Amino acid sequence: MKLFETTQLGPMTLKNRLWRSATWLNMADDKGHITEQLEKTYIALAKGGVGTIITGYAFVREDEQPNPGMLGIYDDAFIPEYKEFVQKLKAEGANVVMQIVYGGSATDFQPEGRTIWGPSAVPHPMFGTIPTEMSQADIRTLVADFARAARRVKEAGFDGVQLHGAHTYLFSQFLSPYYNRRQDEYGGSIENRGRIIFETVRAIREEVGEEYPVLIKMHCSDDWDEHGLSVEESMVVAKGLERLGVSAIEFSGGNLDTTNYPEASPIRSGIIKQEKQSYFAKKTAEIAKHLTIPVISVGGHRTPEVLETLLEETPIQYFSFSRTLLSEPDLPNRWQSGDYGKPRCISCSKCWHPDGNICILDRPKKS
Ligand SMILES: Cc1cc2nc3c(=O)[nH]c(=O)nc-3n(C[C@H](O)[C@H](O)[C@H](O)COP(=O)(O)O)c2cc1C
Repeated sequence: MKLFETTQLGPMTLKNRLWRSATWLNMADDKGHITEQLEKTYIALAKGGVGTIITGYAFVREDEQPNPGMLGIYDDAFIPEYKEFVQKLKAEGANVVMQIVYGGSATDFQPEGRTIWGPSAVPHPMFGTIPTEMSQADIRTLVADFARAARRVKEAGFDGVQLHGAHTYLFSQFLSPYYNRRQDEYGGSIENRGRIIFETVRAIREEVGEEYPVLIKMHCSDDWDEHGLSVEESMVVAKGLERLGVSAIEFSGGNLDTTNYPEASPIRSGIIKQEKQSYFAKKTAEIAKHLTIPVISVGGHRTPEVLETLLEETPIQYFSFSRTLLSEPDLPNRWQSGDYGKPRCISCSKCWHPDGNICILDRPKKS
């Protein structure tokens, strides 16, 4: 199977084409440090055969995290504990990439009393949170925060770093005409809306050098009419990122205006039938045709035959998974052994829980 071929991404050797897409586990401590429960979950994943694990999003500024229980990467003090963590996962045969994020208004986690930055002061359609419009000095501060975070990621021994540019967190808000109403050079044209991301990638490259894998997760489209990023605009951004030396792009999509666009979530439920699976693959393939860097597709992957066909017929090279691996961390090993039975996950999207994001089937039964 092509899914289990070994490939190379810069200095990183990938034992198969399967990735764990970044998944916030809600298991880190209040300051963003690793806990025993979190480490155990990652070790099970690494043992389960996935080629490359992208960690759940890690916050780059101590004063800002969109959710509880996230990993932190805002201080050099994190480096030793991540070094140990990465070594343990690599000993099980997996690559490990850290995803880094600035959340912004996509949050209802302790919004009082903290400054939440956004491109413009408009309410988030799902959370209602209104951010403070960033000044250009704030943008420069944040770009430097990301560069420092990426340097820590490299020093800790991760195989690469991924910017979270999706799911209405700050970078994807800059790309969207709804959130971004700016009149300066960070708003308006798609080149301007992408500027903060381009500047961040440049700053990161200065810190980590030319060879280190720097990835981004972004949308192939927001599926949000005039409010959102279109496929054509996404292509402009992706090509710009390619020119700046981004190593690979993971394409998600959708928006969180679930009142008006209930079907456009990045995390879709009820996707059992084959025609509903791999729901961003078509648009992702359209963009991938115009890129030379590898493209990872995320969203609703469940069936090896469907993925093999996508490998044969499109330029997509890799697939990433979140919910299926939360439910069944050893799914890659199972597939590799030739057992293509259905994943245990039924994409019910009930993985979220204050005690830790795990499959609902694994939660203790209420007595
Ligand atoms: C519990 C949970 C946590 C998630 N956390 C993140 C995250 O930290 N960063 C991110 O980019 N996406 C996150 N996602 C989205 C997934 O990475 C993925 O894009 C989405 O779930 C679709 O893939 P799937 O159909 O394989 O679940 C999360 C999804 C779930 C279910």
